[in-house]
Amino acid sequence: MPLLGLGCWDMNGDEARKAVEFALETGYRLIDTASMYGNEEEVGEGISLSAIPRSGIFVTTKVNNSDQGYDTTLRACEVSMRKLKTDYIDLYLVHWPIRGQRRDTWLALERLLSEGAVRAIGVCNYTGPFLEELDGYASVVPAVNQVEFTPYLFLKNLLDDCRRRGILLQSWAPLLRGQRFSDPKLIAMAGKYGKTPAQLLIRWGLDHGISTIPKSSSPARLRENFDVMDFRISAEDLAAMDGWNEDFRMSGLDPGSYW
Ligand SMILES: NC(=O)c1ccc[n+]([C@@H]2O[C@H](COP(=O)([O-])OP(=O)(O)OC[C@H]3O[C@@H](n4cnc5c(N)ncnc54)[C@H](OP(=O)(O)O)[C@@H]3O)[C@@H](O)[C@H]2O)c1
Repeated sequence: MPLLGLGCWDMNGDEARKAVEFALETGYRLIDTASMYGNEEEVGEGISLSAIPRSGIFVTTKVNNSDQGYDTTLRACEVSMRKLKTDYIDLYLVHWPIRGQRRDTWLALERLLSEGAVRAIGVCNYTGPFLEELDGYASVVPAVNQVEFTPYLFLKNLLDDCRRRGILLQSWAPLLRGQRFSDPKLIAMAGKYGKTPAQLLIRWGLDHGISTIPKSSSPARLRENFDVMDFRISAEDLAAMDGWNEDFRMSGLDPGSYW
């Protein structure tokens, strides 16, 4: 699984089709969408239009909250595959830990995995207690836990917990949708490496060994966000950035409160 991918939330119609096609041309090989984003068809078209074969692309999609449950998840996966024009999904995720549905949804994902419809399964927005609960009913360890995770929301305990369990943490909204781009310490640290704030935030995730999926539908910014392979953040600076934590949830959503 590539660590750096394209997030596809908030892209519609032609915008999604073009962004996916351009991202693949630029070198991205991981595309993250969701039934909830309403753009699986266009994402699928972008993939079909690109010169990269399907086997060279890692496609993630997610079960919508309203589809959670056993039979509904099985059906939702079929619909997603049809829209994406693919006969398998590389990574299928539970989009949100929905009360009363978590067990059945996960068991449906395990069945999809055993049938080969999906090649890996995982969760999103699972805090420690949700992972502990999962131990009670899961036969398969989630491959990925996709959560909001930035230097301003450095969830060290969750990162350690995921590592102990063999789960790869994947950070959503790694750019905080731009909400901290004017932070002087971010600007100064990015300047030190001759990079932009967005590039530094992406590299921070990669240098922690996690996966990260910044969204852009602008060709220039898609290129910028992918141009992060020629530098590394020193251990000292990485630790300094970890210290920027202020428990800031850009989304305002704390999944822990959905217990
Ligand atoms: N599992 C979940 O619950 C969950 C929740 C939220 C998001 N996600 C996933 O995570 C992905 C990323 O999160 P996100 O889209 O919310 O936020 P994000 O990636 O942090 O930020 C995207 C925003 O930043 C702008 N941007 C991108 N690159 C930039 C750059 N280099 N300089 C300045 N601005 C830049 C984009 O605008 P332009 O497009 O105009 O460049 C867009 O407005 C989503 O697309 C989605 O796939 C998952």
